[in-house]
Amino acid sequence: MRNGTGGFVRFKTLQAGRRESRADSDYTRRWELPVSMKSFLAGVILVLVLVPLVGWLYLSSGRVPVATASAPFPFEKRITGMALRAVIQLEAPKTVPLTATPENLMGGAEVYKQNCAVCHGLPLQAKTAIAAGMFPPPPQLWQANDMVTDDPAGVTYWKVANGIRLTGMPGFKKTLSETQMWQVSLLLANADKLPPATQQALVAHG
Ligand code: HEC
Repeated sequence: MRNGTGGFVRFKTLQAGRRESRADSDYTRRWELPVSMKSFLAGVILVLVLVPLVGWLYLSSGRVPVATASAPFPFEKRITGMALRAVIQLEAPKTVPLTATPENLMGGAEVYKQNCAVCHGLPLQAKTAIAAGMFPPPPQLWQANDMVTDDPAGVTYWKVANGIRLTGMPGFKKTLSETQMWQVSLLLANADKLPPATQQALVAHG
């Protein structure tokens, strides 16, 4: 605004002008956007161009942490964890079709040794070289601070069935049966109170 009264006043004047005389001398000026609107639009366009440009520069800079040994992004765990929790809350089954009988736990131990131990470890055994080289690190499910005994079996079942994208955690719904997936989920939900036979089966070789 040349007179410094702001876009709003100019807009009002234009509207009044439109009502009073159609034969306004400067016809085109009626369609002129107020200055504040112009700078707003310029800002929007700048952001639309700048954001992808900065993103592209960053991705092609060679400094994005893509190696498993790279430090995590700030808030990486919190952001991905939030998305995962929201999906699981929506989709994880609320009822468990099996009970933690000794047979089901034993079945779970077999499934676990075949499909999970290489990443998630076994009781009384050191982390494997594979687990040590992964990012994010696979939780060591027999160590007290990594156990998932607090999670409902349905939550673990969701993770086993669907996997967790871009973490190395595979989804097993194409390769394990429903029963096997529930058995291993019940095994992990009861990891701190397993019958001795199941504990032995987990540490026994073969
Ligand atoms: C190739 C390695 C690998 C294999 C094999 C694997 N997982 Fe995982 N799993 C991971 C990784 C990595 C994570 C961590 C994902 C993350 O940080 O979000 C994970 C996460 C999990 C979690 C979530 C733990 C938590 O703290 O919330 C559970 C439960 C789980 N896996 C169970 C299993 C079961 C059961 C099997 C076998 C049927 C299995 N995983 C096989 C790599 C693996």
